[in-house]
Amino acid sequence: MPIEVKGLTHVYMPGTPFEARALNDVSLSIRDGEFIGIIGHTGSGKSTLIVHLNGLESSSPGVVFVNGVDLGLKETDLIAIRRTVGLVFQYPEYQLFEETVEKDVAFGPRNLGLSEDEIKARVADALRMVGLPQDVAGKSPFELSGGQKRRVAIAGVLAMQPSMLILDEPAAGLDPAGRREMLELIKGVHDTGVTVVMVSHSMDDVGRYCDRLYVLNRGEIAWYGTPAEVFIHEEQLHEIGLDVPECAKLARRLRKSGFDIPEGLYRTDDVCEAILRNLRKGSDATC
Ligand SMILES: Nc1ncnc2c1ncn2[C@@H]1O[C@H](COP(=O)(O)OP(=O)(O)O)[C@@H](O)[C@H]1O
Ligand SMILES: [Mg+2]
Repeated sequence: MPIEVKGLTHVYMPGTPFEARALNDVSLSIRDGEFIGIIGHTGSGKSTLIVHLNGLESSSPGVVFVNGVDLGLKETDLIAIRRTVGLVFQYPEYQLFEETVEKDVAFGPRNLGLSEDEIKARVADALRMVGLPQDVAGKSPFELSGGQKRRVAIAGVLAMQPSMLILDEPAAGLDPAGRREMLELIKGVHDTGVTVVMVSHSMDDVGRYCDRLYVLNRGEIAWYGTPAEVFIHEEQLHEIGLDVPECAKLARRLRKSGFDIPEGLYRTDDVCEAILRNLRKGSDATC
């Protein structure tokens, strides 16, 4: 199992008046090649959870395994783990600091002690993967748009060639077109065989891209499963401040009004097809 979390609990500032239990007995497993969504309201513990997945944070009680290695053991090589599990923070563009895009993306590979040729090749590959033209390499990151800067930051993580990529709200703050492009970019990375864990608070986004979801509420896993399995809990999700995708709502409403729409539909295409089937049936009956 690439990532396994068992009974993880994290308390910020324990024993002070500011004590906050951010995670409570969280367990999850992520399989090779999956695209996982972690979803929850602000403050539900999403960011706290993912910094445990590459050993940036450790907590007790709880165990985190990456490829079977217990991150809590003293002898575990956390630098090697962070090479395997790439982590993209929320608003990663604020962490760009080098004078050129090339230097920024090359920062990680250079620290690995790779040859200049290998570094160059990795930078070119990473820029290609995030859909940036090679001529941005010589530019200052500060000459770029917000969306492009974010791509540079992601390229810096991809240049380490991680086998798992974790992203904290990668589409946050982007306009609708930028959101879609960012999500397609991540899908492209997943298509190359990288296991992806994406934190989001958009049910539409995780419904469209993820194989399985974990829903966090007040530091606990409230539901998990395929999007269809999770979206069935529309009312309870609503109570914890989450909305199912618009199409799932429409499908449910039509089913309640007597249309023959199977349970668990949430993708636009599937819902359209089901509606068309009903309309065709209706017109056949009147012929
Ligand atoms: N550095 C911190 N110090 C104290 N409390 C924190 C800190 N970071 C997060 N918290 C608290 O932990 C809980 C979970 O936060 P977080 O993991 O950031 O949730 P999310 O990413 O889902 O918004 C919240 O109640 C938040 O206020
Ligand atoms: Mg967060």
